[in-house]
Amino acid sequence: MKSFFHENVLKEILKSEDDPQNINNFISKEDCNELLELRKSIKNKMVDREESTKVAFNFEQSDISKKLKKKVEEKIGEFYVNDFEPHFITTRFPLRLHVDTGKNPNDTIYKNVVIPLEFVYQNENENKKKPNTMIFKNKWYDRSALFTKKTSDNYDFIIKDSLGNFVDITNIHNFKKKIDEKENEEIVYEGNKFFVNKIFKDYITMLSKTKRYNIRTDKHIINKSNFDKNIYEKYMSHQPYEDCQGLELDKALEWNVGNLIYWDRIRIHSSDNFLKNNIFSKTAIALFTSKTRTN
Ligand SMILES: [Fe+2]
Repeated sequence: MKSFFHENVLKEILKSEDDPQNINNFISKEDCNELLELRKSIKNKMVDREESTKVAFNFEQSDISKKLKKKVEEKIGEFYVNDFEPHFITTRFPLRLHVDTGKNPNDTIYKNVVIPLEFVYQNENENKKKPNTMIFKNKWYDRSALFTKKTSDNYDFIIKDSLGNFVDITNIHNFKKKIDEKENEEIVYEGNKFFVNKIFKDYITMLSKTKRYNIRTDKHIINKSNFDKNIYEKYMSHQPYEDCQGLELDKALEWNVGNLIYWDRIRIHSSDNFLKNNIFSKTAIALFTSKTRTN
């Protein structure tokens, strides 16, 4: 089979493969707070959606970010960030099965790095469970992808209904058609209610013009073995069960504030279904690292 990555690049990628890691207390609470302050101070590099907010930063822009880069390099060795920029990500809906391998066959991709900074709970008085990143044994040596059997179109988005619940809209263009003529009224779409006003319409228009970074594919499914039902119920119920076919869990990496979490970028991974564990949102630093600079 022809590989997406160029031969020499693939060789280097294979050489650097290792087990996923989760290091406790990698940075202090004070450092986490300083990083959260840095996030707040960045106004112009934000991508804000209902289900997530991304804020990009540069390692050179402050003492705390410089210190962070140095510390991470002490653990994983020298690295570059070619793909996107270093960023803060706040997630309000669990990420589904995907891989962050990028789009450049010349990029010697290395580790996904995550440093959890803050969790917000729905109810402060309830049980406070930790979120997890689910790392599967399955690997993917192709471009960045989202894994699902629903590959008929590329226009699915997660949006909030009028009750505040996240809903999977499989075709944003169909949805847009349905609301185009509406003004300040509630509509029902596939059993879910949405209040349509100008802000909502502008948001849907913005989504409908969004270009996808990840391809949608079900080629991650290479055998008929069913995914472990207990693991599915415990962690993965935000993902259709059939999408997990053939996957085998390596580790559920528990998020603790200040941890350093990393795994090979060729690993299929996802968030756990943190919404059922009283978590409203979680914020972390995310880095897609590479071994060499491509830009
Ligand atoms: Fe990811």
